[in-house]
Amino acid sequence: VPRDALSFAASKIRNIADFPKPGILFKDITPLLASPRAFHIVLDAIAERFIGEHIDAIVGVEARGFIFGGALAARLNASFVPARKPGKLPAACDEVTYETEYSVATLEMHKGSVTEEARVIVVDDLLATGGTAKAAADLVRKQGGYVVAYAFVVELSFLGGRDRLMPVKVESVIQY
Ligand code: PRP
Repeated sequence: VPRDALSFAASKIRNIADFPKPGILFKDITPLLASPRAFHIVLDAIAERFIGEHIDAIVGVEARGFIFGGALAARLNASFVPARKPGKLPAACDEVTYETEYSVATLEMHKGSVTEEARVIVVDDLLATGGTAKAAADLVRKQGGYVVAYAFVVELSFLGGRDRLMPVKVESVIQY
């Protein structure tokens, strides 16, 4: 994907001050989703990094990871598996609890979502501290799957989330 295309996609990310709380500058991806060209660019940018690699499943993290993860799964001919907040999935789940900046959170995934030794990519819209993505990866491993990589549309590099996800490969399209 050419540099100017990536700049175009980046121009569709909007900063919202003081959301969800005072002092936080929220990266709003809804303008990017509203642009078919920008949406294609970010999907192309992620998909091209996995050309020639066999991927069995994409695990998308609620909520915005569903949007990119679903589209990416269709492109890579992989299954899509949702990792959700507690109480949302109807069947029996595995769960992982993790620390966030201010509290404790839990992610759930249906039991048997990932087959033994499946090659999986964990997808979310944004990498901040990495706690959420790491929890999704822990769910994959709990079910016997192998996390090939993490893929994000936006990476907040200054928060160091990438280090927390090592040694697994981390791909991101737009960095701040
Ligand atoms: C955001 C983002 C990631 C997570 C990243 O989700 O979409 O899922 O935070 O943060 P981390 O790297 O520090 O774990 P949010 O908490 O806004 O939940 P939502 O997607 O359900 O709105």
